[in-house]
Order: sequence, then C-alpha cells, then structure tokens
Amino acid sequence: MSKFFPLFQSHLDLAHRYWIELLSPGDRVIDATCGNGHDTLALSKMGATIYAMDLQQKALESAKNRLVEEGVAEPVTFIQGCHSKFPEEILNESIKLIVYNLGYLPGGDKEVTTKVMTTLTSIKNAEPLVVPGGAISITCYPGHPEGKREEEQLLDYCHTLDPKQWSCCHHRWINRHLSPSLILLQKEKC
Ligand SMILES: C[S@@+](CC[C@H](N)C(=O)[O-])C[C@H]1O[C@@H](n2cnc3c(N)ncnc32)[C@H](O)[C@@H]1O
Repeated sequence: MSKFFPLFQSHLDLAHRYWIELLSPGDRVIDATCGNGHDTLALSKMGATIYAMDLQQKALESAKNRLVEEGVAEPVTFIQGCHSKFPEEILNESIKLIVYNLGYLPGGDKEVTTKVMTTLTSIKNAEPLVVPGGAISITCYPGHPEGKREEEQLLDYCHTLDPKQWSCCHHRWINRHLSPSLILLQKEKC
C-alpha cells in the first residue's frame, strides 16, 4: 500500500498540517486544552510562543514534563483555569492560532471533560483575540455523549458566523463510525 494512503491518518494529523501551513516562528498561540501536552509540543516545534491552558493541575504537570523531556526551548506560559476566561494580558488581534482538542484527559477522570456551554463561551471570547488571517482549530469527539452534543452545537454556532469575516470548514471521515472531526475557522484578512 502506498505510504500516502490515507494522505491524512487522523483528524490530529490533518490539524497539525494545517497549523504548519498557518504558523511562522514567533507567532503567538493559545492551546486552550493543553492536556498531556502533545499538541503544545507539536506547536512548540513549529516555533510558536504558547499560552497553554487546562483546568487540571495534573494535566499541566504532565505537559510540562513532556516539554522538558523533549528539551523544548520555545516559550510556554502554563495557565491553570477554564478557557471560557482568557488571561486579560492577551490583547485583541494578538493571537495567530487558538487550538481546542475537546473531551477529557486520556488516562484521567472522564467526568472532567469539556462542556458545550463553556466551550461555546470560550470560542466566542476567542474570536476577537485572533489576528486577521489567523485561525481557531477545534477537534471534536462525538464518540461520547457530551462530545456529540458539543460537536452538534459548535457546528450550529459555526453555521451562523458571517462568511465575509470567517471561513469555516468541517472535516470528518464519513466511513469511520463516530470518528473525531476537525472544525477550522479562519478569520478574514483585512
Ligand atoms: C482531550 S484532552 C486534551 C489533549 C491535549 N491537547 C494533548 O495534546 O494531550 C482535553 C483537556 O481539556 C481539559 N479541559 C476540560 N474542560 C476545560 C476547560 N473548561 N478549560 C480548560 N481546559 C479544559 C481537560 O482537563 C483535558 O486535559
């Protein structure tokens, strides 16, 4: 079988390729669901300056250890808290990419999962922070009940975004049952 089949192995593979295309070294990024730090690590390897947020101290510790083990040099600011409230120091139109990898911490408490109302609030608060041409990347996990509700309501919301201001697309593998999916929102360049 060709090593190019499938061209994108997963929603995360696709998301990472999109981030590489979008980012330049020194761009500022928010990882709004830092978890075990896999995405934070990938973003740091792309040269981004990162704010990494998570509700759980345990997740932030795990992410910090991962970055230390990998000898990451890019600046990462870790913030414990809910992503429905971004730090006030983050100014409007200062962030190139905001990343959400929804759901619960792999290997952690499944009850501590992202919830539709806080995720929606967070995305609405994220919109003004993004620079023109920047983006919001959201990976959804409809394989569990809260994840399904979250995906449905996020898609409903994204349908309402003005196409003159936001380019919105949704990718899913349609022949993989309840596969994770990727929502990409890119802000129009002025
Ligand atoms: C699927 S995991 C993220 C995986 C991570 N991006 C990685 O690469 O390892 C989702 C994370 O979101 C966090 N989370 C859930 N609700 C949150 C909220 N309201 N604000 C910030 N983080 C939240 C969970 O604690 C969990 O660590």
